[in-house]
Amino acid sequence: MAKRKTLEDLRSHRWFGVSDLRSFGHRSRMKQMGLAPIDFAGKPVIAVVNTWNGLAHCHAHFKNRVEDVKRGVLESGGFPVEIPVMALPENFVKPSTMLYRNLLAMEVEESLRSLPIDGAVLMGGCDKTTPALLMGATSAALPAIYMPAGPMLRGNWHGQILGSGSDIWKYWDEKRAGNISEVDWGEMEAGIARSDGICMTMGTASTMTALTEVLGMALPGSSSIPAPDANHPRMAAACGRRIVEMVWEDLNPIDILTAGAFDNAIIASAAIAGSTNAIIHLVAMARRAGIPLALERFDQLSAGIPVIANIRPSGKYLMEDFYYAGGLPALLTRISGLLDLTQRNVLGTTLRETLATARVWNDDVIRQIDNPISSAEGLAVLRGNLAPGGCVMKPSAAQPRLLKHSGPALVFSDYNEMAAAIDRDDLDVTPDHVLVLQNAGPQGGPGMPEWGMLPLPKKLVRQGVRDMVRISDSRMSGTSYGACILHVAPESFIGGPLAFVRTGDVIEVDVRARKIHLHASEEELGRRKAAWQKPVQKYPRGYGAMYARHITQANEGCDFDFLESGPVIPEPEIH
Ligand code: FES
Repeated sequence: MAKRKTLEDLRSHRWFGVSDLRSFGHRSRMKQMGLAPIDFAGKPVIAVVNTWNGLAHCHAHFKNRVEDVKRGVLESGGFPVEIPVMALPENFVKPSTMLYRNLLAMEVEESLRSLPIDGAVLMGGCDKTTPALLMGATSAALPAIYMPAGPMLRGNWHGQILGSGSDIWKYWDEKRAGNISEVDWGEMEAGIARSDGICMTMGTASTMTALTEVLGMALPGSSSIPAPDANHPRMAAACGRRIVEMVWEDLNPIDILTAGAFDNAIIASAAIAGSTNAIIHLVAMARRAGIPLALERFDQLSAGIPVIANIRPSGKYLMEDFYYAGGLPALLTRISGLLDLTQRNVLGTTLRETLATARVWNDDVIRQIDNPISSAEGLAVLRGNLAPGGCVMKPSAAQPRLLKHSGPALVFSDYNEMAAAIDRDDLDVTPDHVLVLQNAGPQGGPGMPEWGMLPLPKKLVRQGVRDMVRISDSRMSGTSYGACILHVAPESFIGGPLAFVRTGDVIEVDVRARKIHLHASEEELGRRKAAWQKPVQKYPRGYGAMYARHITQANEGCDFDFLESGPVIPEPEIH
């Protein structure tokens, strides 16, 4: 049996358990807060890391849910302290939450390291909060358990189900085509987000919470529980109870986040047709755990994996239905033959043990492996002279006719240029054109905003066109869909080949061959490169300037170069 920590082994013991001048100060300041030694002395101090703030729409319930986590910590003999950290509400943070993922990760890491903390419950869910919390906790190297926010209930409009993001993109095109009235649009606004919780499509948030569970960093079954369900606060309390034991067991993220766990996450992501954003986050998370993860691994492991989660945007149902159908453990039973079942989780148990009791209750929501919702793959990594570092797309969310396509480029040098032109009736564009957006990558956005689902030209929407090939170095919301080729690396802003595409150039895409090719001669591209000037950086000072200096490219995880690896940081001295 593994050795358990003793009281003297606790980090917090260094602050509170010794007898010197500094510990006098530490204890006296605990007493200043009305706490007696019986409250905290000799107990694991558990940080309940809370990504709540007054604009964190998907985490509105965290203000109360934190109390459930604390209850669990107390029940197990720990001492809970709430540590509020930066919230990244996806809808409100501009230009992009991705600009701040690493800042949140740094805040988490340094908060855990600098304070008398023995373990952490990480409360997250809205897109970037999940990878940020895990990246920070992994680098802090303390026991940690992730508490997922849970999806919101189904949206509703005129008796029809509405899914976050996905249905709004769809109905926006109908509105632009004149098929939806202002009144309808206003009613949808009131019906699409009708409870606490994260987006209830298989967007980035639900993908990342699910993959965190697959990785083993969340309690089995926890990620699928809808936020308003009474099982959710019970799960939150269970996280609180479990983390105290994890501290005594010294069970750290590094013990759970193995190469095999990441392989399992990649396979699961393909089966749920997870968000393309997950690729960037998994690469960054793996690197924090010391595991080099290349784009090729995603392509190798995803190839041939059927999409069996019938959830929008690729499928028909929503996360609430997924939960009733058995949730993530049930889905994993369907692909268990592809997974490494020896991987362990925060309970210390194996995936095999988790799946032993899981069952699928609805074969239409969670399909049989031989009855997938799409024969198209959930993910493809393309390479070619336009993207030497790779780029990604989600074939299952594209119209099949576009998976092998050649067409003339229509290039926009930035988002504003695209927005000003896309609805013009005189725009010279056909359904065969390939829309190209430049300067929307990690540095160009900055923060690689989710602009990759470029709006279709209005004149084509009116003609009934609903998909076109679109290429950019930006990302795409996990709730989006279409033949969108994303994450082109290196990005155009730093002189990647995407910077040298011009309107009229022919671009060839062949998803099956994993190919993307710009038909232009080397000589011509050389001339364009020689004449190219780097655009002006948008953040001349502050965090944005630091970000520009240290951000890595999409295929490398978009972490800061000084965060992703390096020697272990020693415990802070107390003097
Ligand atoms: Fe928060 Fe989608 S906006 S999860």
